[in-house]
Amino acid sequence: MNDRDAPTVDPALFKLGVPILGICYGLQLLAKTCGGRVERTDLAEYGGRPLTQQGKSRLFAGVPRELACWMSHGDSVTEVPSGFAVTAVSPRLPVAAMENVEAKLYGVQFHPEVDHTEHGQDILKNFLYEICDLAPTWTPASIIEEAVARVREQVGGERVVCGLSGGVDSAVAALLVYKAVSDQLTCIFVDHGLMREREAEQVEDTFRRHFHVPLVHVRAEERFLRKLSGVVDPEDKRKVIGEEFIRTFEEESHKLGKAKFLVQGTIYPDVIESGTSSAALIKSHHNVGGLPDDVDFELVEPLRMLFKDEVRVVGEELGLPEDMVWRQPFPGPGLAIRIIGEVTQERLDILRRADAILLAEVKKAGLYRQLWQTFAVLPGIRSVGVMGDERTYSYPIVIRAVTSKDAMTADWARLPYDLLEVISQRIINEVPGVNRVALDVSSKPPSTIEWE
Ligand code: XMP
Repeated sequence: MNDRDAPTVDPALFKLGVPILGICYGLQLLAKTCGGRVERTDLAEYGGRPLTQQGKSRLFAGVPRELACWMSHGDSVTEVPSGFAVTAVSPRLPVAAMENVEAKLYGVQFHPEVDHTEHGQDILKNFLYEICDLAPTWTPASIIEEAVARVREQVGGERVVCGLSGGVDSAVAALLVYKAVSDQLTCIFVDHGLMREREAEQVEDTFRRHFHVPLVHVRAEERFLRKLSGVVDPEDKRKVIGEEFIRTFEEESHKLGKAKFLVQGTIYPDVIESGTSSAALIKSHHNVGGLPDDVDFELVEPLRMLFKDEVRVVGEELGLPEDMVWRQPFPGPGLAIRIIGEVTQERLDILRRADAILLAEVKKAGLYRQLWQTFAVLPGIRSVGVMGDERTYSYPIVIRAVTSKDAMTADWARLPYDLLEVISQRIINEVPGVNRVALDVSSKPPSTIEWE
């Protein structure tokens, strides 16, 4: 805070008369700019701390006087500016929150926005709804209404295509656009045969039969398998699948006649990641759904301002099935990067069945939503086993289940032994070609979530 090149703000900001809530460094900036003192002391705190309120504050209305909060600071406010009152302390920290009600300036040293702070959401709500006098009008219904109006205005009478992947983002984007321009939209679902069990049928059922969205279901399983024949390197697999996907999508969209617009399920974190607020850029990095930069379409991105949980809420409001709304992330190249070695029809069938059993049991145990990803991997090796009087020489299946917030880091999930036992027994008994089940107990880093 006291470094010469420490980030700062124009002091005029605090004289605007609009409510301001400074969080962590924001509190310190508020204190320093308004005439208080911020120092590097031995009061640094990292992690969970008890917080005690002092006096009365609208920011803490309805919140227990004592609560656990999350701190992460080296500098501390040691003297509040004149006009400010201290509204909370922690055992070692004399200023954990302060406010100047007249000037509408509030500051908290702790992080109300993280899950570890009890009632953090209530504190933020108090600020927004009571102090700023805002109304929570950002509801699923209003998001849908706004998105639909925007799409209508952008698209006019032109034709639109949308690639469906089976994932929640493209599904919600497609439904919003369909709501806006109805049959001007055609969805293209390139079924590369690398999906999980029943996923392709679910896309059909949901879009064609339930919502009556015009849908081209391209059955390209054989085409992809042919191209993947003999390919074992993970990056080569991605390249082959990505190229084939683009080629197939382009062929199909040409058959439909000229469409001016392409729907993309870009969500807000993608926009932030790409470092620009306006880029009409199609992320091709990780995504098999990603098309090259030179595609001849203008983009329609109805989810650009939404986070994943908001996309899910909108999906539920639009009536998407729960399975699709809450689907765990699934990589574009699908099961191909979960078969280590060559992708063959036999291996795909085995993996798909084992994966379905794993998912069914995890769902039955009520753990599906707590896990970031849960899946089966088929290493292309065989080991010896014995079933009845017979020697077997078959594939193993590896169970991979991880917890994570954003896939950047992940921890292996501690699935209950009893559950693992049921999964293992079912897979070995019900999936011909498997005689062993192993558990992956690696975190990311140094491992990755996927095996390839
Ligand atoms: P890793 O394995 O790098 O995965 O820890 C991080 C997240 O990205 C997903 N992933 C992919 N998604 N195409 C995708 O669309 C890919 O090629 C790909 N590779 C990994 C992975 O499932 C995890 O959620």
